[in-house]
Amino acid sequence: TEKKTIVALSGDGIGPEIMAQALRVLKVVAEKIEFDYEVVEKAFGGAGIDQFGHPLPEETLLACQNSDAILLAAIGAPKYDNAPVRAEQGLLALRKALGLYANIRPITVHPALAHLSPLKREVVVGSDFVVVRELTGGIYFGEHTLEETSARDVNDYSAEEIRRIIRKAFEIARKRKKKVTSVDKQNVLATSKLWRKIADEVATEYPDVTLEHQLVDSCAMLMITNPKKFDVIVTENLFGDILSDEASVLPGSLGVMPSASHSETGPSLYEPIHGSAPDIAGQNIANPVSMLLSVAMLLRESFDNEVGASMIEQACDTVMNEGILTRDLGGDASTSEFVDALIKHL
Ligand code: NAD
Ligand code: IPM
Ligand code: MN
Repeated sequence: TEKKTIVALSGDGIGPEIMAQALRVLKVVAEKIEFDYEVVEKAFGGAGIDQFGHPLPEETLLACQNSDAILLAAIGAPKYDNAPVRAEQGLLALRKALGLYANIRPITVHPALAHLSPLKREVVVGSDFVVVRELTGGIYFGEHTLEETSARDVNDYSAEEIRRIIRKAFEIARKRKKKVTSVDKQNVLATSKLWRKIADEVATEYPDVTLEHQLVDSCAMLMITNPKKFDVIVTENLFGDILSDEASVLPGSLGVMPSASHSETGPSLYEPIHGSAPDIAGQNIANPVSMLLSVAMLLRESFDNEVGASMIEQACDTVMNEGILTRDLGGDASTSEFVDALIKHL
């Protein structure tokens, strides 16, 4: 088998700390599963602005386009918030350039770890769903106009953009509990009316999968009061951003939430759903689990390596179950101590 190329984008804030730990773990796992790879590190986000004057430098984009998979930690820092081009612009440009329209954000709460949630045990135990977030359209990519006394952001969706993400959700549901919840705001928004119509059309292609519709406001409530009702949630870009951070309340921290982003043909990108956490950067206290689980998704979804993926996932569960936890989950382990313990279980 040939050597695979993984582009590593460490970015800003806690990014470099959690990336270093993720690459440490990948090295150990790769030896066990005989996975042959090389890592190409590139500047991105604020680090791209510092080195090249742009958050998505050309050589970074080229390396991503020519890679087999991309691993991203996090970008963004207060120092760039008023820069002509912000760090976040690089992330949006990369998603768009690579056509990463399907963002998959799984949420699971294992019984042994239910006590880490601020919610009642009986509410969260057994929660297991996936948020499928449309990632290259909607209000993120419509026209933005900011004037002195007015501003507007355009929410645009074509039928084709909606159809492909809804199909993606049905494909995922087919391999799970066969239920799709399509989330919209069709009582108000035109884009949502189109969204709902297309969801109904796509549902006829998947008679084995059940479709239900949910308005986004009540969905936000149900995710906390009755999370077990969900299997696959599919929604537009902005709603998916908000709902997936909300979902992190179930496992107890943003620090355990991974994601994968897929295009129609090219390389996929794997990243935690959280940001660069400037408030805790540089202290070796960030939770590395979101990053490690993103590596697991990379092994499974880009390289079809189930063994390597579950090795990492199980080791994360085992270490957390032993009570070795970072501060966000009420423990006092450092980032590197957590990973030291994890490597012993690999
Ligand atoms: P954030 O996700 O960075 O942090 C929110 C809170 O969660 C903070 O209190 C932080 O300390 C905590 N947190 C996040 N990840 C953690 C981890 N792994 N371990 C422990 N605690 C963790 O969101 P924010 O503070 O609103 O944004 C900070 C910057 O990150 C902004 O510039 C924002 O635009 C950017 N951002 C980037 C991404 C990305 O790179 N994909 C995602 C979200 C936000
Ligand atoms: C995420 C982040 C990004 C988004 C920001 C940093 C642009 O919040 O990946 O969830 O809104 O998509
Ligand atoms: Mn977000």
